[in-house]
Amino acid sequence: MQWWNNAVGYEVYIRSFADSDGDGVGDFGGLTERLDHLAWLGVDAVWVTPFYPSPQADFGYDVADYRDVDPVYGDMEDFRRFATRARDLGLKVMIDLVPNHTSSEHPWFRSALADPDSPERGYYIFRPPGPDGGPPNNWLSHFGGPAWTLDPASGEYYCHLFHRMQPDLDWSNPAVRREFEEIVEFWTELGVDGFRIDVAHALTKDHDLRDNPQILPLASDATPNQAFSAFEHVHDLGLDSSREIFEAWKSLPGGSDTLLVGEVYLVDVDRSTSYMGDGGLDLCLFFGLNRRPWDPVGFVDELRDWAEASKRGFAWTIASHDENRPPTRFGGGEAGRRRALSIWTLFCSLPGMPFVYQGEELGLEDGSVEPEHVQDPVGKAAYHEGRDPARTPMPWDTGPDNGFTTGAPWLTSGTRAPAETVQHQKEHPDSHLWLFRDLLATRKRLAPIRTGPGRWLPAPPGVAVVLSGEVLTVANLTDDPGGVVLPPGDWSPEFDTARGDNPVASGRIEVPPTSARVYVAAPSPL
Ligand code: NOJ
Repeated sequence: MQWWNNAVGYEVYIRSFADSDGDGVGDFGGLTERLDHLAWLGVDAVWVTPFYPSPQADFGYDVADYRDVDPVYGDMEDFRRFATRARDLGLKVMIDLVPNHTSSEHPWFRSALADPDSPERGYYIFRPPGPDGGPPNNWLSHFGGPAWTLDPASGEYYCHLFHRMQPDLDWSNPAVRREFEEIVEFWTELGVDGFRIDVAHALTKDHDLRDNPQILPLASDATPNQAFSAFEHVHDLGLDSSREIFEAWKSLPGGSDTLLVGEVYLVDVDRSTSYMGDGGLDLCLFFGLNRRPWDPVGFVDELRDWAEASKRGFAWTIASHDENRPPTRFGGGEAGRRRALSIWTLFCSLPGMPFVYQGEELGLEDGSVEPEHVQDPVGKAAYHEGRDPARTPMPWDTGPDNGFTTGAPWLTSGTRAPAETVQHQKEHPDSHLWLFRDLLATRKRLAPIRTGPGRWLPAPPGVAVVLSGEVLTVANLTDDPGGVVLPPGDWSPEFDTARGDNPVASGRIEVPPTSARVYVAAPSPL
């Protein structure tokens, strides 16, 4: 059995987690000091967002050296201390690998610009202008504008699906493949247990770089997201050929024990599953509920479609450093928190590996970042699409800057209320934090009897009933009571998002609005 079966991961956005040296930016020292919190919470693995040397044009997703630590986060010794402490606490270590693009400050790209005849030129996608003298095709950057920037010295354009300081690598070049195989080996030899692979669905691109078909009209004032959605991304995203890259990584020494989680942001279940298994990715991140307004019926249907498509499940998420926080997206306040927790209860009933995003265990809503303090390049292009509200510092305590730093935080945002902090919630067993922890403990405790992919039993719209071995999960995402008929037998309650003191149940039960419960076949075999 692989270590990630039944595991729960925790995403640390390192810049905003904990700062140990007072420069206002989170770092490995701070993370290491706070690892106890993760162990107490009951997660099994920590995924750290990119910490490599970087000009921070996209806060670390622009890597200038894949084998080192940016001084703002510490050094390699700090990384080793972090990994050792994690291991001592029983936590697996996952790091973010960014193979779609480098920083424009990476020595490869510098050589590519300095000498068009250098081997490194072939690491990137340079092309002459299109027939009209503009970009070679109609691809767009996720961050706004064309996916092409002119290199004036050579008169050629280079491709970047994100920031112009994030030039895309050319994965049809075997030298690029070799470089990354060595990078993967470098980190696995240092004891890394897994990788979250950034933009895993975009590594290979159409050989002829054909235009993407336009499917919607494009307004001149369209935001980057709107413009991007106006095209069908058949030539820049989701190509089958990206799979070979993961297969090569899985066959490296130690590869079968190294978890590969792909950020496959296609929101297409068949495409995502096609990258997994049989020597490919172990798991793809699930984004099916991330860019949608609250929709109980649609959410249950979407989750069911995904759950039924893969016996191994997915890396289930509703939160990350790229999305508005779930309680905010789901209507805010207590209702938003209960909705998020009900979905989490379903995640915990399924195979795969759910990932908590820092602060999600507290039920945090978005932080507030005023327009003049925006840091995110997406937020600079379109304030309301910006990602800073999900990236505000982790609120540890009720002291200055919520205990995140003794300096000035890199991202200026309002102070969190006492009830939003780890300290306060830990002292209050009726808090969201304790409930969330209880849910994770329930998942762990029931793992031996939660077998199989989970069968979705008949239920009214917006209600889910999932039977996995001897574990039964019922979730009612709607605002009305939901009547469901339980499978034959008696069912003992193990967890309830509403903290109800529920009796052993059988036959038909009413599941209260916006709540979820976990039962086991009675008498409890545990
Ligand atoms: C996905 C990452 O999660 C996001 O933060 C980043 O901007 C893009 N990939 C580009 O690397």
